Amino acid sequence: MFAAIGECLAEFAPNEAGGYALGFAGDTFNAAWAARVGLRGAVPVRYVTAIGTDWMSDAMRARIEAAGIDAAFVRRVEGASVGLYVIRVEAGERSFAYWRRQSAATHLADDPAFLARALAGARLVLVSGITLAILPPAGRAALLDALGAARAAGAEIAFDTNYRPALWRDADEARETVRRVLPLVDIALPTFEDEAALFGDAAPAATVARLAAAGVRDVVVKNGTAATLGRCGAESFEVVPREVVTPVDSTGAGDAFNGTFLACRLQGMAPAAAVAAAQAVAARAVLTRGALIADEA
Ligand SMILES: Nc1ncnc2c1ncn2[C@@H]1O[C@H](COP(=O)(O)OP(=O)(O)OP(=O)(O)O)[C@@H](O)[C@H]1O
Ligand SMILES: [Mg+2]
Repeated sequence: MFAAIGECLAEFAPNEAGGYALGFAGDTFNAAWAARVGLRGAVPVRYVTAIGTDWMSDAMRARIEAAGIDAAFVRRVEGASVGLYVIRVEAGERSFAYWRRQSAATHLADDPAFLARALAGARLVLVSGITLAILPPAGRAALLDALGAARAAGAEIAFDTNYRPALWRDADEARETVRRVLPLVDIALPTFEDEAALFGDAAPAATVARLAAAGVRDVVVKNGTAATLGRCGAESFEVVPREVVTPVDSTGAGDAFNGTFLACRLQGMAPAAAVAAAQAVAARAVLTRGALIADEA
């Protein structure tokens, strides 16, 4: 089983008719979605989060289930609701407004026993810097404990920094939290821009070197339309995207990459081939409105 942990939000995205379409998205959920597409049932995909008890929460849970993703560990928080973001497109540029501070997902790590059950038997667990950012200090500690226990029981831990400054008190808090999770990480899937902003890396090679020195076994550094640089175990690689497209909506490209890369690796594909497949799906994501990729990808 592949488990992704984090926050899924309600999304209002402008549609062609000049109105808004309701969707559901969030970095780890988008990755779980892409992994489910890539795995075609070969390995079950589970999404671990918390939702509220209102109709919007019910709609989100239904969406997760309808996608063929296991929602058995979607916790209910009495009286709460899910987070929301609204997309604005002006002159081709997208901006986001968020309502998420009170979202039920901030409670996803309140119950250590729930987390332990959610991750029992997982082969691979994905978390991100966004997952950690939304949690209160006690939740962060509980999540790190649960990841440590899952890893001790044989799971691999995958992590994308996905640094979003607005979700952290300051950069120091983000850096300190990332440094605490790294010793538990087997597969790091950062984007160079985030690592440069947070750790001052001068080039993707510096990110690979820093994370490898921190003990991370597999490091894959995304870098937009530039080459993906990485090192998995003893194997180093640099994979140039075969196709560079004009973005329609770049939201979720990194997430589609992560889910596809992990799905390919779970099925035994070599690292460089898995990167190429992930780039191909990410390129499709860039051409698709909304954060989720189409099944044909
Ligand atoms: N214009 C493009 N054409 C083709 N592929 C692209 C394009 N932009 C991004 N990609 C692909 O998407 C991957 C992820 O993009 P990027 O490095 O920008 O991720 P990101 O900033 O983490 O995205 P996200 O917003 O989802 O967090 C890249 O590694 C690349 O393979
Ligand atoms: Mg990203």
